[in-house]
Amino acid sequence: MLSIVVCVSGGGTNLQAIMDGIENGTIRNTRIAGVISNNAGAYALVRARERNVPAFCISPKSFADRADFNRAFMEKLEELSPDLIVLAGFLVILPSEMIRLYRDRIINIHPSLIPSFCGTGYYGLRVHEEALKRGVKITGATVHMVDEGTDTGTILYQKAVEVLPGDTPKSLQKRVMEQAEWVILPKAIDEIAMHDPAQNTVQKGS
Ligand code: GRF
Repeated sequence: MLSIVVCVSGGGTNLQAIMDGIENGTIRNTRIAGVISNNAGAYALVRARERNVPAFCISPKSFADRADFNRAFMEKLEELSPDLIVLAGFLVILPSEMIRLYRDRIINIHPSLIPSFCGTGYYGLRVHEEALKRGVKITGATVHMVDEGTDTGTILYQKAVEVLPGDTPKSLQKRVMEQAEWVILPKAIDEIAMHDPAQNTVQKGS
C-alpha cells in the first residue's frame, strides 16, 4: 500500500479531495501517514483531524533559523516514512536535501497549464490574475514531479479549464480547482499507487 504524506499551508481543499478519494475508492491502495502544515492556522489541519488523519504543524516561526526548521521538517518526514510526498498548496521552499532524498517521490499540484504561468512568484491567486491579464481562453492545472527548479519537474497530468467572460481571479481559481485540481491530483496518486511504489514507475497519460 502506498503511504503518503500531504504537505499543506492553507485551506486544504486538495487534501480534502485526496481524503474523499481514498474513502470513496477513486484513490486505491493508498493511506495517508500524515499531514504536515507550516501554518498553524491552516484549515487543512482541521480537515485532517476531522478524519482522524495524523496532522502536524511545523512552522518556521518556531525555530531560530531556517536550518533548524528544515531539520525538524526532515525529521518528521523520516518518522512518517512516506513512499510519496504530495505538495497540496504547500508554500515552503523545500530543503534541497529533501529533494535529493525523495527524488521522484514528490509531486506538486500547480493551478495552470505548465509551462504557462508558473515559476517563481506564481502561486495562489496570482496565477489566475496573470492568466486573466494575458487574456488566455484556456487554463487548467498540472500535477508534476518536484525537482530542484520551480515547477520544472516532469509533467504527470494536466487538465484544461475554460476561462469564461466576466471571470475574476477568484471565480477562475474556483473553476480550476473544481474541474481540474480535485480531479487530477487524486488521479495521479491512484496511478502511482497502482504501480510499483518502490520503483516509482509512473505511467503517464490521462
Ligand atoms: C491550489 O490552488 C493549489 O494548486 C495551489 O495552492 C492552492 C491550494 O489550495 N498550489 P488548497 O489548500 O488545497 O485549498
